[in-house]
Amino acid sequence: MSVVRGVDRVLFGGDYNPEQWPEHVWHDDARLMAIAGVNTVTLGVFSWSSIEPREGEYDFGWLDRVIDLMHAHGIGVVLATPTASPPPWFTKAHPEALNRTADGVQLVHGSRDVYDPSADAYREAARRVATALGERYGRHEAVVAWHVHNEYGSVSYGPATDRRFREWLRARYGDLGRLNEAWWSAFWSQRYAEWDEILAPQATQYLPNPTQMLDFRRFSAEVLLECYREQAEILRALSPDVPLTTNFMLPTWLHFDHWDFGAEVDFVSIDHYSDSPGVEGAAHAAFGADQARSFARGRPWLLMEQGANVTQVPGRMLVKEPGEVIRTSLQHVARGSDGALFFQWRAPLAGAEVFHSSMVPHSGPDSRAFREMTELGRVLGRLTDVVAPPEGSDARVVTPRVAIAWEPDSWWALESASLPSDHFSLLASVRRAHRELWFAGVSADLVRLDDDPAALDAYDLLLVPSQLLATDEQAAGLDAWVRRGGHAVVWCFSGTVDADLHVRPGGYSGAFAETLGIRVEEPHPLPKGVAIAIEGGGRAHDWTEHVELRGASVVTRYAEGVLSGEPAITENRRGDGVATYVSAELDDATFTRVVTSALAAAGVRAEAPGAGGGVEVVRRHAGSGVVVAAINHTAETRTVTLRGTPIDLEGGADGADGADGPVVDGPVDLAPGAFVFLHEAPSPS
Ligand code: GLA
Repeated sequence: MSVVRGVDRVLFGGDYNPEQWPEHVWHDDARLMAIAGVNTVTLGVFSWSSIEPREGEYDFGWLDRVIDLMHAHGIGVVLATPTASPPPWFTKAHPEALNRTADGVQLVHGSRDVYDPSADAYREAARRVATALGERYGRHEAVVAWHVHNEYGSVSYGPATDRRFREWLRARYGDLGRLNEAWWSAFWSQRYAEWDEILAPQATQYLPNPTQMLDFRRFSAEVLLECYREQAEILRALSPDVPLTTNFMLPTWLHFDHWDFGAEVDFVSIDHYSDSPGVEGAAHAAFGADQARSFARGRPWLLMEQGANVTQVPGRMLVKEPGEVIRTSLQHVARGSDGALFFQWRAPLAGAEVFHSSMVPHSGPDSRAFREMTELGRVLGRLTDVVAPPEGSDARVVTPRVAIAWEPDSWWALESASLPSDHFSLLASVRRAHRELWFAGVSADLVRLDDDPAALDAYDLLLVPSQLLATDEQAAGLDAWVRRGGHAVVWCFSGTVDADLHVRPGGYSGAFAETLGIRVEEPHPLPKGVAIAIEGGGRAHDWTEHVELRGASVVTRYAEGVLSGEPAITENRRGDGVATYVSAELDDATFTRVVTSALAAAGVRAEAPGAGGGVEVVRRHAGSGVVVAAINHTAETRTVTLRGTPIDLEGGADGADGADGPVVDGPVDLAPGAFVFLHEAPSPS
């Protein structure tokens, strides 16, 4: 069974906006959905003004008819609450509940996401419309899941936010003395004498207080979670049999904690728009998929939105290469998604996203784009076996041996304007590490270090990209895991500050210093565009450090500049494990060398001989056993060694006809863009 209620097929379809079209088009939609093999639509995402045209007055007639039409065609409905886009009446009635920017500009309707998530009137209106929808459709057979809101991520300033921020701070710190200490508020005369003097960090004259900023991001992420919880509570009561999700936007909005949300939803769903064409786009898709599975703590999840016919790059919408959308969809499925859904079903004729991607483009069904969707629907129809969840309550759907640390506090901390270099971006560093593994043919999970420290035992290698902020507990968990035999690679500046953003005195990277067997005396950020040589022909750019050995041995030294001869990369054997420290930002070739030798030292190999370099091999655990997917994203024929029974992907979408096999055991040639799925044969013992 898939993540949604009662569906045991791979979910295929997308956001459907019938409220934008006259009713006769709906019937054409249903006909075309049947042709394409669509089995799931997401309804109502932004339809608040169509459902509740005036405050408290509902019009469900159209929605009743659409849901019934979908049901009659065997299409499941993921029903959204429309709370990401309050209608014009809301602005008029509740101006105090609209969002204000950090510069104090009051926003009004005219786009979407115009509300202050802290405002009582917004919360009340959101609860009311969620209740009305839950009462009307909570037990409707067509509804297979609830899609609460859309892409939580709004942030606002103003009186309602200030009030809730203070309450949050009181709960966190208890007394003002503790807050003043955490915020280091004696600096620049910021000492607070009364709670009501505290404001959310808005436009101010010069640099803001970094700990106040960090707390505001933590707070904003919790406010969004509170908004979700309020609706979830209502829907769970009115619709107890229907699972709940909310679609996370990836790569990510800044005021959002994916881990916390992942722990609350019944299943994780993501919106992921690849930002590059070709093989790099495939690497990016794999990154999104591995994030989703990680936020789902290894369980199956759902790709709620992706681009259908175009990839958006800055300033342009590039048409996807033939077959690209099929390969990308299959990547997500192989990595644990129970479906491939899209934004959006039919291209609108106007509106702000008139040229965004769609399954039925403006040119209509007689188009390359629609034919490719039909082909995708057919292929997904052949993969039903994949969605049976693995057995055992905590069985993971993919079991990588490598993990990358991803910690929201560190992400937010690295966004601070008060660092010695502005080049850091945790998201970019985590993505770089993941990309490197993907090109090595290795899958990875993301982990939050303060989740259960024993959970690290599932991995042989942990990459820790510039985790600036680390608590004592995180550092102790990492250290214990290394001593138990783990291999860690920790990048520069990690562990330098504590949870209050206070520098740990005595040396940078202090939280991890003992594990790494080093002391970082002084960081040496490099000017933009300057790179210095390191031994072995590589170069360091943007950031270097003066590292002193305290038990570690040198792997590579700086070969130029004031740090010439000093350690650049070190290695510390600790207990049964090894902790490597990389004190600089490295050029691509050296970065690859570091990751490759860490993989070798930890005994991690590519998923299959021939995997890597743009050929993706992933093992997905399903009820029926292990399904291996091999996808060639490159423009050359490539050979991978596989063992198992190929799933017949050639027949009709119902998956019924066609026999699997013949058994494969050895090298398989994959033509450019080709893919194969196999039921893996158990290894000969
Ligand atoms: C997001 C939203 C959709 C739409 C697409 C744009 O993911 O959820 O409503 O705006 O992006 O392509």
